[in-house]
Amino acid sequence: MALSPCFSPLVFLFLIVGCVARPLYPLPSKVAEGSRKPLQTSRPYNIAHRGSNGEIPEETAPAYQRAIEEGADFIETDILSSKDGVLISFHDVTLDDTTDILQHKEFANRKRTYEVQGTNTTGFFTVDFTLKELKSLRVKQRYIFRDQQYNGKFTIITFEEYIAIALDAPRVVGIYPEIKNPVFINEHVKWPGGKKFEDKFVETLKKYGYKGSYLSKEWLAQPAFIQSFAPTSLIYVSNQTDLPKIFLIDDVTVPTQDTNQSYWEITSDSYFQYIKQYVEGIGPWKDTVVPVKDNYLLTPTDLVARAHAHNLQVHPYTFRDENQFLHFNFHQDPYQEYAYWIHKIGVDGIFTDFTGSLNNYQEWTSHSSNDSDSSASKLLHKIALLVNSYEKV
Ligand SMILES: *[C@@H]1O[C@H](CO)[C@@H](O)[C@H](O)[C@H]1NC(C)=O
Ligand SMILES: *[C@@H]1O[C@H](CO)[C@@H](O)[C@H](O)[C@H]1NC(C)=O
Ligand SMILES: *[C@@H]1O[C@H](CO)[C@@H](O)[C@H](O)[C@H]1NC(C)=O
Ligand SMILES: *[C@@H]1O[C@H](CO)[C@@H](O)[C@H](O)[C@H]1NC(C)=O
Repeated sequence: MALSPCFSPLVFLFLIVGCVARPLYPLPSKVAEGSRKPLQTSRPYNIAHRGSNGEIPEETAPAYQRAIEEGADFIETDILSSKDGVLISFHDVTLDDTTDILQHKEFANRKRTYEVQGTNTTGFFTVDFTLKELKSLRVKQRYIFRDQQYNGKFTIITFEEYIAIALDAPRVVGIYPEIKNPVFINEHVKWPGGKKFEDKFVETLKKYGYKGSYLSKEWLAQPAFIQSFAPTSLIYVSNQTDLPKIFLIDDVTVPTQDTNQSYWEITSDSYFQYIKQYVEGIGPWKDTVVPVKDNYLLTPTDLVARAHAHNLQVHPYTFRDENQFLHFNFHQDPYQEYAYWIHKIGVDGIFTDFTGSLNNYQEWTSHSSNDSDSSASKLLHKIALLVNSYEKV
């Protein structure tokens, strides 16, 4: 029968009541912004680097869902493209290190060597696979010392699927997508109408309602930071969207991806003066903020102070809990590392592989005895006033 039961004459009388009276709960994905817990803006941002990739293979849906459960303010991702021009959430230009591509004999002839940022790189490139082919692969954990039990279970996701995860979160969770390797992507992938990778990137954000400058009403409803190592791309997209942008800065030995400028040039005061017209902040590799020798921290540079003097936020990367990433100064305690960067260096956001740890650190230190002391003392004060007023009567 083609008619829905609501229109069946025999049951019409009963069911019309049912159909009309069924309360129209909003779909979880459509809950009005106001009723979701807003983004916190009173402490450094917890940026879930590639999701909770310390636990679950990077940039997969479960890695992002886990990060949201664990308290991420922003879920972070890298945007690349498939051969057929679909934007995907994936970090490396090659599939070799984080998927099961080597087990797929049907793709054995796709191995290529391309020049990527001045280096000849050999492997299986995302730009040589259609989205359908990419979806037939499964993602695996990058580091051998991390949990391997999820290898082979989850697919690569698209930029749109990544956005949907943030929009479906039970509270406001921001996105933090990177325009990744734009020079390489524009060389290898062509879109209809002469559109560039950056155009498709911004189009996707607009399609899902991402807009507005930092802390504007629109932004707070759907927060997003656009990040890139390529200043040309950030400047280009600033004509298309006023969403805040973060200029990523690599190791002191690595020039910019597109303009081949040195670390020293792009961290100079005159460059900060220029780039701050386009970006809200910088995202430096943390060892350039505090250099390291023999796994001990050296004296911090003035990078954070100078960025702050230009009203630029500083979101360093990447914080990882494991011993092999913790400098000896922190005595194998990731909380000591967070304390140092938040209180001594004074950063505005942290890219972490372990969102849960950073969130615990921030929760446990912000609900310190001070808060309870002060509310307890307020209560005591009220009681004292009350007692006082009785005494006067
Ligand atoms: C990459 O390989 C090609 C072909 O062998 C060569 O012409 C080119 O100079 C190489 N580029 C780099 C950066 O080594
Ligand atoms: C931005 O738009 C203006 C006005 O249309 C144009 O003059 C300028 O070249 C554009 N800038 C970039 C970086 O595309
Ligand atoms: C980038 O800059 C370095 C240092 O100035 C120079 O040696 C190199 O040739 C440049 N590379 C490109 C691709 O322009
Ligand atoms: C707790 O109080 C002390 C002394 O008033 C102050 O220095 C410290 O910053 C406070 N800590 C927090 C987390 O508010």
